[in-house]
Amino acid sequence: MTAVDLGIPLVRRTTDTSARPDTPQLVDRFGRVATDLRVSLIDKCNLRCTYCMPAEGLPWLKRAELLDTDEMNRLIRIAVEELGVNTVRFTGGEPLLRQDLVDIIAATSALPGHPKTSLTTNGINLGGYAEPLVRAGLNRVNVSLDTLDRDVFKRLARRDRLDDVLAGLAAAKTMRLEPVKVNAVLMRGINDHEPCDLLRFCIERGYQLRFIEQMPLDAQHDWDREQMITAEEILDRLSAEFDLAPDVAERGSAPAERWLVDGGPATVGVIASVTRPFCSACDRTRLTADGQLRSCLFSTTETDLRGPMRAGADDTELIRLWQETMWAKAAGHGMDSGEFAQPARPMSAIGG
Ligand code: 5AD
Ligand code: SF4
Repeated sequence: MTAVDLGIPLVRRTTDTSARPDTPQLVDRFGRVATDLRVSLIDKCNLRCTYCMPAEGLPWLKRAELLDTDEMNRLIRIAVEELGVNTVRFTGGEPLLRQDLVDIIAATSALPGHPKTSLTTNGINLGGYAEPLVRAGLNRVNVSLDTLDRDVFKRLARRDRLDDVLAGLAAAKTMRLEPVKVNAVLMRGINDHEPCDLLRFCIERGYQLRFIEQMPLDAQHDWDREQMITAEEILDRLSAEFDLAPDVAERGSAPAERWLVDGGPATVGVIASVTRPFCSACDRTRLTADGQLRSCLFSTTETDLRGPMRAGADDTELIRLWQETMWAKAAGHGMDSGEFAQPARPMSAIGG
């Protein structure tokens, strides 16, 4: 009798590392290959977005817990030179709060093959940093902008910094950190009346807007599926003022589903991580600021690289740990299963 007759799945759900094919690449049991490294450089932030963290902030990692510049650069070099990573995205917290950001980006850009680099930032300090970042070889930025209204910004991010964010965005455009992508999260009763204004604003300035469904990654565990604004709702609201047509361009592993706006060329994206997960096309591997590897935003386990590194592990050992962590990556985040548990680390300490 064959496996099919027995109803046994043909994909072996094993974490047995002996089944891992002999390849340096970060393959997993479901045929995915991770080529996109997300590095959280610091967990601190100078905003307090309500969907992310409480007003008083969080117990931040101590300096000695953070990877230092050399440790960061070493792990990024291993990922690019040994493991097939070709895109490196720097996130936080707020990555511009990390003093050695420009050095790390310069070291990454100079690696063989010149990986593509991008920065996910709240934009506050981008005005002053855009030029040195470009000189260091940074290719692109993603800036978070949830509202165009100063009072709403103060309520949502608990700081009066909208003007700084807008200046940061303008600097990114002037310095050609393109495409300049804008991320927006809509919160019911706070900024959910703004999607059309945000889209108009972004189109006029040549920014690519993407709405992100709110995910259960807030430190306070306040997320409520019933309250979140779904992709469908976002598209409905946009359709009241814009003509949206699916963009047929290859989506690949990009999480955003894109729509042409009023016939194009402008587009708008929606990242429906909750209602239309894209886990089967995921190509990410993640490193936290304190040197923990994660195979998914929603992983409930991590692999410590800092400990072995500080105990003198050689590259071969770190490579093996990285490959094994990714081999064990789960098929999906399982948000719809009864067993879903929000990870212990909030988004600000994992990186978006
Ligand atoms: N759900 C969805 N998006 C989030 N972000 C932060 N927390 C959440 C959440 N719980 C966004 C930020 C930023 C990007 C990294 O992720 O606004 O744009
Ligand atoms: Fe800071 Fe980003 Fe969290 Fe807002 S969402 S508080 S900008 S880390």
